[in-house]
Amino acid sequence: MAAYPSQPKPFALALLLMASLVVAVAGKFNQDVDITWGDGRGKAFDNGNLIALSLDKASGSGFQSKNQYLFGKFDMQLKLVPGNSAGTVTTFYFHSQGSTWDEIDFEFLGNLSGEPFIVHTNVYTQGKGNREQQFYLWFDPTADFHTYSILWDPVHIVFYIDGRPIREFKNMESIGVPYPKSQPMRMYASLWNADDWATRGGLVKTDWTQAPFTASFRNFKTKACIWFKGASSCSNSTNNQWFSQELDSISHKQLKWVQKNYMIYNYCKDTKRFSQGLPQECTVINKN
Ligand SMILES: *[C@@H]1O[C@H](CO)[C@@H](O)[C@H](O)[C@H]1NC(C)=O
Ligand SMILES: *[C@@H]1O[C@H](CO)[C@@H](O)[C@H](O)[C@H]1NC(C)=O
Repeated sequence: MAAYPSQPKPFALALLLMASLVVAVAGKFNQDVDITWGDGRGKAFDNGNLIALSLDKASGSGFQSKNQYLFGKFDMQLKLVPGNSAGTVTTFYFHSQGSTWDEIDFEFLGNLSGEPFIVHTNVYTQGKGNREQQFYLWFDPTADFHTYSILWDPVHIVFYIDGRPIREFKNMESIGVPYPKSQPMRMYASLWNADDWATRGGLVKTDWTQAPFTASFRNFKTKACIWFKGASSCSNSTNNQWFSQELDSISHKQLKWVQKNYMIYNYCKDTKRFSQGLPQECTVINKN
């Protein structure tokens, strides 16, 4: 396994440039989100700063952001379901409305005790996904909180774990690939049962004798353009330089390190599935 490259300097410049344009939120977690389903299975603790979602045989649970966003950097700290979590899926994702929605997904597929979780990522544009990349983790995601981030700007979408980029989806409109840039999205989080597909492709079922299963969320941090009544909180700004930040060379190294050592599935390599030809963007993605 490759040695881990030196520490990132995450977004220092970008944040500086963004500072005056975007609305930074560090309020109480449970005031920024609504627990929307699960009939009491989602609960706030620690003075409203931590939300625990639980799942039992009858139902899972979930919450969503009050705000809608059009671009931003979003951090969430998660501690995943400990012990035997096979069959469970914990999610942290962004989603717009309507039948041609855009979506950016982090999903965490549970496993038997001691077996690795899978981090499943996907990007939907105009209602179409099929852009999965999956990873193992380089730590035990159930022992502690770790930070999972999504950067979404007009240039690219970047998935980060503890500040290290694991996936970049570039704006490839120039070669005809739709890019999410005009539909505001809300943040969603959930814990649910997906034992028909989640663990070893559905072979390992949820063990309900272990229920309730619990995943914890805290420190939802946003530096984002908030969408309100048809306008963006960033729309009056002329200083949009943070929108065009590319990954620097350190981030590129980190991305390569994760992809080389921990990526277990990449749709752009799946010529069996796409026997009629890989999606158009794969020409760019496979070059990187
Ligand atoms: C669960 O563990 C098995 C065996 O190590 C592994 O093949 C699989 O990728 C792991 N993760 C999931 C979510 O199935
Ligand atoms: C943007 O400009 C419009 C019209 O000049 C103004 O009404 C609105 O308050 C401004 N929004 C922000 C976020 O500055």
